[in-house]
Amino acid sequence: MRIVRSVADVRAALRQARAAGRSIGLVPTMGALHDGHLSLVREARTETDVVVMSLFVNPTQFGKNEDLAAYPRSEERDAALAAATGVDILFAPTVAEMYPDGFSTTIHVSGITEVLCGATRGASHFDGVATVVTKLLQIVGPDAAYFGQKDAQQVLVIRRVVRDLDIPVRVVACPTVREADGLAMSSRNAYLDPESRVRARAINRALDAAEAAVRRGRTSAAGVLSAARAVLASAGIEPEYLELRSPDDLRELDEVGDAALLAVAAQVGPARLIDNRILQAI
Ligand code: PAJ
Repeated sequence: MRIVRSVADVRAALRQARAAGRSIGLVPTMGALHDGHLSLVREARTETDVVVMSLFVNPTQFGKNEDLAAYPRSEERDAALAAATGVDILFAPTVAEMYPDGFSTTIHVSGITEVLCGATRGASHFDGVATVVTKLLQIVGPDAAYFGQKDAQQVLVIRRVVRDLDIPVRVVACPTVREADGLAMSSRNAYLDPESRVRARAINRALDAAEAAVRRGRTSAAGVLSAARAVLASAGIEPEYLELRSPDDLRELDEVGDAALLAVAAQVGPARLIDNRILQAI
């Protein structure tokens, strides 16, 4: 595996592969790698010839009072994990390489960025995500780019950018990887103290309860949400949001129907955690 730090070096490293007709997969990350990230690499490995991972803690997607300074950074460990999982090129640029002096362009997606995490973290969060991912797609020029369904709204935002700006890439959403007790893997789980770690299990259990409610025929948004809310409350968790929305365009739903996205965000002790489940009435 090669570690490259500049845009020019990534392009140079990929020139030959591209000329030889080899396909390129991109896995964008902010590091502090866990099995969720590595599952994206494994998927990319099965579908593309050359796998590029980006490792960049993107400052523009963090709000003023968020955890940019505290965000876990562990490049050596990440590089070893990436290499062992089959990454060919690790692109780990500096902030100055990605945002040189005078940088003044923002990609803003309207509508779907105004709800859920966009409402609670502020619209600038998804501006930061859309802008950095657009840059990464331009720098690497992959055939396919791999993202986790754990960040369901992020996947929708990226699909929208790719569609609206005619970026020639296939966006692949991969299933959420969980710890043995169901907690969705996240770099932010490292913040959890033992007591919060136990309470955090309630998030996935709340999604389970909602799914069970649907199976019993309780398909109204009110029914589904109250089933989930009860489990969160039993662990003393007051969600930042808990909402039932269309998985295509995030409009609010009254009924589960064919497919509904149940999305939750909650502060559990020191960590802000998110999770979601696609529900289907049968
Ligand atoms: P980060 O949080 O590091 O996540 C990188 C990728 O891993 C994202 O696509 C995310 O959805 C996926 N991922 C995280 N946890 C996962 C899990 N438990 N199961 C499956 N996939 C998981 O998301 C970002 O970074 C950034 O916003 C980024 C897209 C890199 C732009 O800066």
